[in-house]
Amino acid sequence: MHWTLPNRDAVVGAANPQFRRDGVRAPALPASLRDPLPTGSRPTGQCPVEMVDSIDDRSSSVQESHAAKRPETNRFNQGEENPVKISGNTIFIPGSTSGIGLALALALHARGNTVVIGGRRREELDRIATEHPELGAVTIDTTDPDSIRRAAAQVQAEYPDLNVLIAMAGIMRMEDWHHPDTFLDTATTTVETNLLGPIRLIAAFIEHLQKQPDSTIVTVSSGLAFAPLQVTPTYNASKAAIHMLGESIRLQLADTSVKVLELVPPSVRTGLMPGQETNDAAMPLDEFVAEVMALIEAEPETHEILVDRVKFLRYGEARGDYDDVVARLNAADPHGK
Ligand SMILES: NC(=O)c1ccc[n+]([C@@H]2O[C@H](COP(=O)([O-])OP(=O)(O)OC[C@H]3O[C@@H](n4cnc5c(N)ncnc54)[C@H](OP(=O)(O)O)[C@@H]3O)[C@@H](O)[C@H]2O)c1
Repeated sequence: MHWTLPNRDAVVGAANPQFRRDGVRAPALPASLRDPLPTGSRPTGQCPVEMVDSIDDRSSSVQESHAAKRPETNRFNQGEENPVKISGNTIFIPGSTSGIGLALALALHARGNTVVIGGRRREELDRIATEHPELGAVTIDTTDPDSIRRAAAQVQAEYPDLNVLIAMAGIMRMEDWHHPDTFLDTATTTVETNLLGPIRLIAAFIEHLQKQPDSTIVTVSSGLAFAPLQVTPTYNASKAAIHMLGESIRLQLADTSVKVLELVPPSVRTGLMPGQETNDAAMPLDEFVAEVMALIEAEPETHEILVDRVKFLRYGEARGDYDDVVARLNAADPHGK
């Protein structure tokens, strides 16, 4: 898949004076943005309009400096030499029997891609395949190395043109770190699923992807990779690790045909956590996927897919209001209260 970035200023609008391109810190945020957020009064991760504008300007200058540093040998990753292609890909999405993965699978298929869904629940895969015979379906447990190897062999044999891997499978569990009994098992399973899973998936597909003229690995992190939710320490850590993994392998793979793209969802209405599907504070799934598809099309060379709502979490550190972001995020979270 090849996603080439047009001039970002054309997408985000005029520069905001709060963040200067010369890197000099801007004046502090207005008091209205620094006040603590009353519990439940604003959706988790939602960003005030003023913040979105200033963040966009900063992220555009950050992207420009990344582009300037890209090695000259990175010929496959340069948009001018490889035109935009949002359709015509063959995509495998382990972790798409529900939620973001399934919605994205359907949206990508609707845009003219061949899509193979994957997950542990065979009955769900069968049900979806009956409802959507246009999708391929493969059983896979990403905590099991043998299952990954089997699924990878099956997908590569049945879909030799496969050129996009979206490592979507993930779990999110609450933990209490006061006692090992209430976090150690959960932490282990979370790392196996959210971190070792994508690592093993990439290992199983990387040689195949490098043989394709144009391929993409999509990792799935979270806004919580950039600001912690106190009830899910290992989840936050696993997503922070996924962020840095993507940043790192992008550098190594710069001399290949493989791009590395990170999807950074905010809180989205799925079954990831109990009560999340009906949580008004989370972003509706269809709106999230529509914005993701629009961003892929508008910013095909970006390294991160960031819907507006996640920028509040993503850029707290860069804006200098990280402590405030963490306080607001946790004050607004209904879990553990
Ligand atoms: N929803 C959010 O607010 C949010 C925010 C940030 C990031 N994310 C990330 O987005 C991704 C998708 O989550 P979601 O919100 O769509 O939740 P979801 O509806 O619970 O989907 C999770 C998917 O992962 C699959 N999965 C879980 N463990 C697996 C394993 N061991 N092997 C294979 N598949 C496995 C599940 O399928 P089976 O049960 O059939 O295996 C399911 O298809 C996750 O990585 C999550 O961390 C979500």
